[in-house]
Amino acid sequence: MGLSLIDELVEKSWTVQNDWVTPEECAWLRAEAERQDADARFRPAGIADGVLTPAIRSDRILWLGEQDAVWPWVQEKLTLLRHQLNAELFLGLDHFEAHFAVYEPGQFYAKHVDRKASNPPQAGSQRAVSFLLYLNSNWQPEDGGELVIHQNGQEIRILPEGGRMVLFRSDTILHEVLAPKRRRYSLTAWLRTL
Ligand code: OGA
Ligand code: MN
Repeated sequence: MGLSLIDELVEKSWTVQNDWVTPEECAWLRAEAERQDADARFRPAGIADGVLTPAIRSDRILWLGEQDAVWPWVQEKLTLLRHQLNAELFLGLDHFEAHFAVYEPGQFYAKHVDRKASNPPQAGSQRAVSFLLYLNSNWQPEDGGELVIHQNGQEIRILPEGGRMVLFRSDTILHEVLAPKRRRYSLTAWLRTL
């Protein structure tokens, strides 16, 4: 991880890094997501304590854990990232949670911030840094499905190209997912404090 990633996270509260994984790793992760999707293991994503809100988000997700083939890989990569962020930024990141997400054409996630206001500091574990890794190959601008970060009256649009990794502060960055025209796969995680 280059210093610029850390610098950007500090200065802008978000950063994008292309080719964070090899094309082979990306293809393997996508194949695993597709296989689990074919096995009907994804569920409509809920927000607000599991209450489904299709007007806000319409993607489907699969929470990852020890039962999943990708888990050792995910754990290694995210633990390394967590340690690097802690070493440079003293964030006190303690653990993470991760899921695959799939957006069918037309599905979206409206503007939101990942750390919920209904989860005050005294409530315990907090999302501190949001992590996104896109798993699509050869994504074109006309395929849509951008992550849009809203900051200082500007819109930063990030295409979900395979291998591209995004980090941002979970408590302040307002963002949304625009509807794609192709099926859109990603691996999402949150690095959390105790
Ligand atoms: C989320 C989210 C962004 C993306 O799952 O909370 O904002 O680009 N995802 O998939
Ligand atoms: Mn989000």
